[in-house]
Amino acid sequence: MKVLVTGAAGFLGSFLSDELLEHSYEVIGVDNFFRGKKEYLPNHKNFTFYKDDLVNEDKKIHDIIKKEKPKMVFHYAAINGTKFFYDIPYQVINNNIRMTQNLLNACKYSSVNKIIYASSSEIYGEPLKVPTDETHPILLNIHTDRDSYASSKAICDFYVKLFTKEHDIDYIILRIFNTYGPRMDTSEYGQVIPEFINKMYKDKEFTIIGDGTQTRSFCYVDDHTRIVRKLAENVKNDIVNIGNTDEITIKKLAESIHKIVNKEFKPKLLPPREYDHKRRCPDISKLKKLISDQPKITLEQGIKKTIDAYNANIK
Ligand SMILES: NC(=O)c1ccc[n+]([C@@H]2O[C@H](COP(=O)([O-])OP(=O)(O)OC[C@H]3O[C@@H](n4cnc5c(N)ncnc54)[C@H](O)[C@@H]3O)[C@@H](O)[C@H]2O)c1
Repeated sequence: MKVLVTGAAGFLGSFLSDELLEHSYEVIGVDNFFRGKKEYLPNHKNFTFYKDDLVNEDKKIHDIIKKEKPKMVFHYAAINGTKFFYDIPYQVINNNIRMTQNLLNACKYSSVNKIIYASSSEIYGEPLKVPTDETHPILLNIHTDRDSYASSKAICDFYVKLFTKEHDIDYIILRIFNTYGPRMDTSEYGQVIPEFINKMYKDKEFTIIGDGTQTRSFCYVDDHTRIVRKLAENVKNDIVNIGNTDEITIKKLAESIHKIVNKEFKPKLLPPREYDHKRRCPDISKLKKLISDQPKITLEQGIKKTIDAYNANIK
Protein backbone atom coordinates (compact mmCIF):
# COMPACT_ATOMS: atom_id res chain seq x y z
CA MET A 1 0.00 0.00 0.00
CA LYS A 2 1.16 3.52 -0.79
CA VAL A 3 1.21 6.01 2.11
CA LEU A 4 2.34 9.60 2.61
CA VAL A 5 4.42 10.71 5.63
CA THR A 6 4.76 14.45 6.31
CA GLY A 7 7.78 15.46 8.41
CA ALA A 8 9.57 12.44 6.90
CA ALA A 9 13.04 13.94 7.47
CA GLY A 10 12.32 14.58 11.15
CA PHE A 11 12.88 12.37 14.16
CA LEU A 12 9.61 10.41 14.35
CA GLY A 13 8.71 10.76 10.66
CA SER A 14 12.00 9.24 9.46
CA PHE A 15 11.77 6.27 11.85
CA LEU A 16 8.10 5.77 10.97
CA SER A 17 9.03 5.75 7.27
CA ASP A 18 11.69 3.06 8.01
CA GLU A 19 9.12 0.96 9.88
CA LEU A 20 6.55 1.22 7.07
CA LEU A 21 9.14 0.39 4.39
CA GLU A 22 10.23 -2.67 6.40
CA HIS A 23 6.61 -3.79 6.32
CA SER A 24 6.33 -3.53 2.53
CA TYR A 25 4.59 -0.15 2.27
CA GLU A 26 5.53 2.31 -0.47
CA VAL A 27 6.29 5.60 1.26
CA ILE A 28 6.04 9.14 -0.12
CA GLY A 29 7.90 11.55 2.18
CA VAL A 30 7.43 15.33 2.44
CA ASP A 31 9.49 17.80 4.51
CA ASN A 32 10.87 21.34 4.24
CA PHE A 33 13.98 20.64 6.41
CA PHE A 34 12.95 23.19 9.06
CA ARG A 35 14.42 20.71 11.54
CA GLY A 36 14.58 17.46 9.58
CA LYS A 37 17.79 16.32 7.89
CA LYS A 38 18.45 14.86 4.44
CA GLU A 39 20.61 12.08 5.91
CA TYR A 40 17.65 10.74 7.94
CA LEU A 41 15.59 10.07 4.82
CA PRO A 42 15.36 6.37 3.98
CA ASN A 43 17.54 5.11 1.16
CA HIS A 44 15.08 2.56 -0.16
CA LYS A 45 13.66 1.73 -3.59
CA ASN A 46 10.11 2.17 -2.31
CA PHE A 47 10.73 5.64 -0.88
CA THR A 48 10.08 8.84 -2.86
CA PHE A 49 10.78 12.28 -1.40
CA TYR A 50 9.38 15.73 -2.17
CA LYS A 51 10.79 18.87 -0.58
CA ASP A 52 7.79 21.07 0.19
CA ASP A 53 6.91 23.74 2.71
CA LEU A 54 3.40 22.68 3.66
CA VAL A 55 2.59 26.19 4.90
CA ASN A 56 2.69 27.50 1.32
CA GLU A 57 -0.59 27.39 -0.48
CA ASP A 58 1.25 26.66 -3.71
CA LYS A 59 -0.78 23.56 -4.45
CA LYS A 60 2.38 21.43 -4.54
CA ILE A 61 0.95 19.07 -1.93
CA HIS A 62 -2.26 18.81 -4.03
CA ASP A 63 -0.15 17.79 -7.02
CA ILE A 64 1.86 15.27 -4.99
CA ILE A 65 -1.29 13.55 -3.68
CA LYS A 66 -2.93 13.64 -7.11
CA LYS A 67 0.14 12.09 -8.75
CA GLU A 68 1.15 9.54 -6.09
CA LYS A 69 -2.35 8.48 -4.92
CA PRO A 70 -1.50 7.46 -1.32
CA LYS A 71 -4.21 5.59 0.59
CA MET A 72 -3.11 6.74 4.05
CA VAL A 73 -1.51 9.98 5.28
CA PHE A 74 0.61 10.13 8.44
CA HIS A 75 0.75 13.83 9.30
CA TYR A 76 3.91 14.32 11.41
CA ALA A 77 5.17 17.66 10.09
CA ALA A 78 5.09 20.48 12.66
CA ILE A 79 7.31 22.93 14.44
CA ASN A 80 8.16 20.91 17.55
CA GLY A 81 10.68 21.54 20.37
CA THR A 82 9.78 23.27 23.67
CA LYS A 83 12.19 26.21 23.29
CA PHE A 84 10.54 27.13 19.95
CA PHE A 85 7.17 27.38 21.74
CA TYR A 86 8.59 30.22 23.85
CA ASP A 87 10.91 31.82 21.26
CA ILE A 88 8.75 31.85 18.09
CA PRO A 89 5.20 31.25 19.39
CA TYR A 90 3.39 32.97 16.52
CA GLN A 91 5.23 30.90 13.90
CA VAL A 92 4.47 27.75 15.90
CA ILE A 93 0.71 28.30 16.07
CA ASN A 94 0.41 29.76 12.57
CA ASN A 95 2.56 27.22 10.72
CA ASN A 96 1.22 24.16 12.52
CA ILE A 97 -2.39 25.09 11.81
CA ARG A 98 -1.83 26.27 8.25
CA MET A 99 0.17 23.24 7.18
CA THR A 100 -2.57 20.97 8.52
CA GLN A 101 -5.29 22.93 6.71
CA ASN A 102 -3.34 22.82 3.43
CA LEU A 103 -2.70 19.10 3.77
CA LEU A 104 -6.33 18.34 4.60
CA ASN A 105 -7.55 20.38 1.65
CA ALA A 106 -5.24 18.40 -0.60
CA CYS A 107 -6.84 15.17 0.67
CA LYS A 108 -10.32 16.28 -0.51
CA TYR A 109 -11.77 14.07 -3.24
CA SER A 110 -8.50 12.13 -3.46
CA SER A 111 -7.20 8.57 -3.04
CA VAL A 112 -6.71 9.14 0.73
CA ASN A 113 -9.01 7.08 2.95
CA LYS A 114 -7.30 7.45 6.34
CA ILE A 115 -5.47 10.32 8.04
CA ILE A 116 -3.28 9.62 11.08
CA TYR A 117 -2.48 12.82 12.93
CA ALA A 118 0.46 13.29 15.34
CA SER A 119 -1.16 15.24 18.17
CA SER A 120 0.42 15.68 21.57
CA SER A 121 0.02 15.13 25.31
CA GLU A 122 0.67 18.90 25.64
CA ILE A 123 -3.04 19.48 24.97
CA TYR A 124 -3.82 18.00 28.43
CA GLY A 125 -2.09 21.08 29.96
CA GLU A 126 -1.43 20.69 33.68
CA PRO A 127 -3.44 17.46 33.94
CA LEU A 128 -6.25 17.17 36.46
CA LYS A 129 -5.61 13.44 36.60
CA VAL A 130 -2.36 11.48 36.23
CA PRO A 131 -2.07 8.96 34.57
CA THR A 132 -4.11 10.84 31.98
CA ASP A 133 -6.56 9.15 29.61
CA GLU A 134 -8.08 10.35 26.34
CA THR A 135 -11.31 11.60 28.00
CA HIS A 136 -9.30 14.28 29.84
CA PRO A 137 -10.36 17.76 28.68
CA ILE A 138 -8.11 19.90 26.51
CA LEU A 139 -6.59 22.54 28.83
CA LEU A 140 -5.06 25.63 27.22
CA ASN A 141 -3.57 28.66 28.93
CA ILE A 142 -3.69 32.00 27.06
CA HIS A 143 -1.24 33.52 29.57
CA THR A 144 1.73 31.50 28.35
CA ASP A 145 3.40 31.47 24.94
CA ARG A 146 4.26 27.83 25.63
CA ASP A 147 0.68 26.96 24.67
CA SER A 148 1.25 28.23 21.12
CA TYR A 149 2.10 24.58 20.39
CA ALA A 150 -0.61 22.92 22.52
CA SER A 151 -3.26 25.18 21.01
CA SER A 152 -2.08 24.44 17.46
CA LYS A 153 -2.30 20.72 18.21
CA ALA A 154 -5.74 21.05 19.86
CA ILE A 155 -7.18 23.07 16.94
CA CYS A 156 -5.76 20.55 14.46
CA ASP A 157 -7.35 17.69 16.44
CA PHE A 158 -10.68 19.38 15.71
CA TYR A 159 -9.77 20.08 12.07
CA VAL A 160 -8.77 16.46 11.47
CA LYS A 161 -11.86 15.04 13.21
CA LEU A 162 -14.34 17.37 11.52
CA PHE A 163 -12.71 17.42 8.07
CA THR A 164 -12.62 13.62 7.90
CA LYS A 165 -16.27 13.42 9.02
CA GLU A 166 -17.27 15.91 6.34
CA HIS A 167 -15.38 14.04 3.61
CA ASP A 168 -16.04 10.46 4.69
CA ILE A 169 -12.39 9.68 5.43
CA ASP A 170 -11.19 7.69 8.48
CA TYR A 171 -8.93 9.27 11.09
CA ILE A 172 -6.75 8.42 14.08
CA ILE A 173 -5.58 11.17 16.42
CA LEU A 174 -2.42 10.08 18.24
CA ARG A 175 -1.88 11.80 21.59
CA ILE A 176 1.87 11.31 21.71
CA PHE A 177 3.71 11.54 25.06
CA ASN A 178 7.49 12.18 25.20
CA THR A 179 9.25 9.94 22.73
CA TYR A 180 13.02 9.74 22.32
CA GLY A 181 15.82 7.99 20.46
CA PRO A 182 18.60 8.61 17.92
CA ARG A 183 18.32 11.38 15.27
CA MET A 184 16.82 13.88 17.75
CA ASP A 185 18.00 17.47 17.85
CA THR A 186 20.65 17.62 20.60
CA SER A 187 20.61 21.43 20.89
CA GLU A 188 18.66 23.44 23.45
CA TYR A 189 15.79 23.35 20.92
CA GLY A 190 15.67 19.57 21.21
CA GLN A 191 14.05 17.35 23.79
CA VAL A 192 15.30 16.63 27.27
CA ILE A 193 17.03 13.24 26.74
CA PRO A 194 19.21 14.17 23.72
CA GLU A 195 19.84 17.58 25.27
CA PHE A 196 21.01 15.97 28.55
CA ILE A 197 23.29 13.51 26.72
CA ASN A 198 24.87 16.35 24.76
CA LYS A 199 25.27 18.53 27.86
CA MET A 200 26.80 15.69 29.86
CA TYR A 201 29.53 15.19 27.24
CA LYS A 202 30.09 18.79 26.13
CA ASP A 203 29.25 21.34 28.83
CA LYS A 204 31.42 22.30 31.78
CA GLU A 205 28.36 22.58 34.00
CA PHE A 206 25.38 20.21 33.87
CA THR A 207 22.29 22.40 34.22
CA ILE A 208 18.67 21.44 34.82
CA ILE A 209 15.81 23.88 34.18
CA GLY A 210 13.63 23.94 37.31
CA ASP A 211 14.09 22.01 40.55
CA GLY A 212 14.11 18.65 38.74
CA THR A 213 11.03 17.33 40.56
CA GLN A 214 8.83 17.66 37.47
CA THR A 215 8.04 14.21 36.05
CA ARG A 216 7.74 12.83 32.54
CA SER A 217 7.46 9.35 31.03
CA PHE A 218 9.56 8.40 28.02
CA CYS A 219 8.80 6.04 25.15
CA TYR A 220 11.58 4.72 22.90
CA VAL A 221 11.06 5.44 19.20
CA ASP A 222 10.97 1.78 18.04
CA ASP A 223 8.01 1.15 20.35
CA HIS A 224 6.29 4.24 18.94
CA THR A 225 6.66 3.34 15.27
CA ARG A 226 5.55 -0.29 15.72
CA ILE A 227 2.48 0.82 17.69
CA VAL A 228 1.54 3.50 15.13
CA ARG A 229 1.80 1.02 12.24
CA LYS A 230 -0.45 -1.45 14.10
CA LEU A 231 -2.97 1.28 14.95
CA ALA A 232 -3.04 2.42 11.32
CA GLU A 233 -3.69 -1.16 10.21
CA ASN A 234 -6.35 -2.03 12.78
CA VAL A 235 -8.09 1.06 14.14
CA LYS A 236 -10.20 3.88 12.73
CA ASN A 237 -11.97 7.00 13.97
CA ASP A 238 -10.44 7.11 17.42
CA ILE A 239 -8.18 9.17 19.68
CA VAL A 240 -5.39 7.17 21.29
CA ASN A 241 -2.64 7.94 23.82
CA ILE A 242 0.80 6.55 22.95
CA GLY A 243 3.55 6.58 25.52
CA ASN A 244 5.36 4.71 28.23
CA THR A 245 3.76 4.55 31.66
CA ASP A 246 7.00 4.61 33.70
CA GLU A 247 7.08 8.05 35.28
CA ILE A 248 10.42 9.55 36.34
CA THR A 249 11.54 12.92 37.73
CA ILE A 250 13.78 15.01 35.48
CA LYS A 251 16.51 14.97 38.12
CA LYS A 252 16.41 11.16 38.38
CA LEU A 253 16.49 10.97 34.58
CA ALA A 254 19.63 13.14 34.46
CA GLU A 255 21.21 11.02 37.19
CA SER A 256 20.41 7.77 35.34
CA ILE A 257 22.02 9.09 32.13
CA HIS A 258 25.22 9.88 34.06
CA LYS A 259 25.17 6.51 35.83
CA ILE A 260 24.95 4.59 32.52
CA VAL A 261 28.28 6.08 31.38
CA ASN A 262 29.82 6.25 34.89
CA LYS A 263 30.02 10.03 35.02
CA GLU A 264 29.83 12.05 38.20
CA PHE A 265 26.45 13.79 38.58
CA LYS A 266 26.71 17.36 39.89
CA PRO A 267 23.70 19.30 38.56
CA LYS A 268 23.20 23.05 38.74
CA LEU A 269 19.52 24.00 39.01
CA LEU A 270 18.30 26.94 36.89
CA PRO A 271 15.06 28.94 37.32
CA PRO A 272 12.05 27.00 36.01
CA ARG A 273 10.44 27.66 32.62
CA GLU A 274 7.30 29.73 32.84
CA TYR A 275 4.24 27.45 33.11
CA ASP A 276 6.16 24.19 32.82
CA HIS A 277 4.00 21.17 33.61
CA LYS A 278 4.58 19.33 36.89
CA ARG A 279 3.61 15.83 35.78
CA ARG A 280 3.00 13.97 32.57
CA CYS A 281 2.17 10.25 32.32
CA PRO A 282 -0.24 8.47 29.95
CA ASP A 283 -3.02 6.06 30.74
CA ILE A 284 -2.64 3.59 27.85
CA SER A 285 -5.49 1.20 28.73
CA LYS A 286 -7.22 2.07 25.45
CA LEU A 287 -4.11 1.41 23.36
CA LYS A 288 -3.58 -2.01 25.00
CA LYS A 289 -7.21 -2.96 24.38
CA LEU A 290 -7.14 -1.84 20.75
CA ILE A 291 -3.97 -3.60 19.56
CA SER A 292 -2.78 -5.78 22.50
CA ASP A 293 0.58 -4.02 22.42
CA GLN A 294 2.43 -1.47 24.54
CA PRO A 295 5.96 -0.02 24.88
CA LYS A 296 8.47 -2.70 25.79
CA ILE A 297 11.88 -1.02 25.81
CA THR A 298 12.99 0.09 29.29
CA LEU A 299 14.35 3.58 29.87
CA GLU A 300 17.81 2.16 30.59
CA GLN A 301 17.83 0.13 27.33
CA GLY A 302 16.55 3.11 25.33
CA ILE A 303 19.04 5.57 26.82
CA LYS A 304 21.92 3.17 26.07
CA LYS A 305 20.81 2.89 22.43
CA THR A 306 20.48 6.69 22.20
CA ILE A 307 23.94 7.26 23.71
CA ASP A 308 25.48 4.67 21.34
CA ALA A 309 23.90 6.45 18.36
CA TYR A 310 25.09 9.84 19.69
CA ASN A 311 28.68 8.59 19.99
CA ALA A 312 28.61 6.88 16.58
CA ASN A 313 27.35 10.12 15.04
CA ILE A 314 30.14 12.15 16.66
CA LYS A 315 32.79 9.73 15.35
N1 LIG B 1 8.87 13.63 19.76
C1 LIG B 1 7.91 13.69 20.65
O1 LIG B 1 8.11 13.33 21.81
C2 LIG B 1 6.52 14.17 20.27
C3 LIG B 1 5.55 14.25 21.28
C4 LIG B 1 4.27 14.69 20.95
C5 LIG B 1 3.96 15.00 19.62
N2 LIG B 1 4.92 14.93 18.67
C6 LIG B 1 4.54 15.31 17.28
O2 LIG B 1 5.07 14.34 16.37
C7 LIG B 1 5.47 14.99 15.16
C8 LIG B 1 6.94 14.69 14.88
O3 LIG B 1 7.72 15.19 15.96
P1 LIG B 1 9.31 15.03 16.00
O4 LIG B 1 9.71 14.89 17.41
O5 LIG B 1 9.72 14.01 15.01
O6 LIG B 1 9.74 16.49 15.53
P2 LIG B 1 10.74 16.93 14.34
O7 LIG B 1 10.90 18.40 14.47
O8 LIG B 1 11.95 16.09 14.34
O9 LIG B 1 9.89 16.56 13.03
C9 LIG B 1 8.96 17.46 12.44
C10 LIG B 1 9.33 17.59 10.97
O10 LIG B 1 8.41 18.49 10.34
C11 LIG B 1 9.15 19.27 9.40
N3 LIG B 1 8.43 20.51 9.13
C12 LIG B 1 8.30 21.60 9.95
N4 LIG B 1 7.65 22.58 9.33
C13 LIG B 1 7.34 22.10 8.08
C14 LIG B 1 6.66 22.67 6.95
N5 LIG B 1 6.19 23.91 6.98
N6 LIG B 1 6.55 21.91 5.83
C15 LIG B 1 7.04 20.65 5.78
N7 LIG B 1 7.70 20.06 6.81
C16 LIG B 1 7.84 20.79 7.96
C17 LIG B 1 10.49 19.51 10.08
O11 LIG B 1 11.51 19.86 9.17
C18 LIG B 1 10.74 18.16 10.75
O12 LIG B 1 11.48 17.31 9.92
C19 LIG B 1 5.19 16.49 15.36
O13 LIG B 1 3.95 16.79 14.79
C20 LIG B 1 5.15 16.65 16.86
O14 LIG B 1 4.36 17.73 17.24
C21 LIG B 1 6.20 14.52 18.96
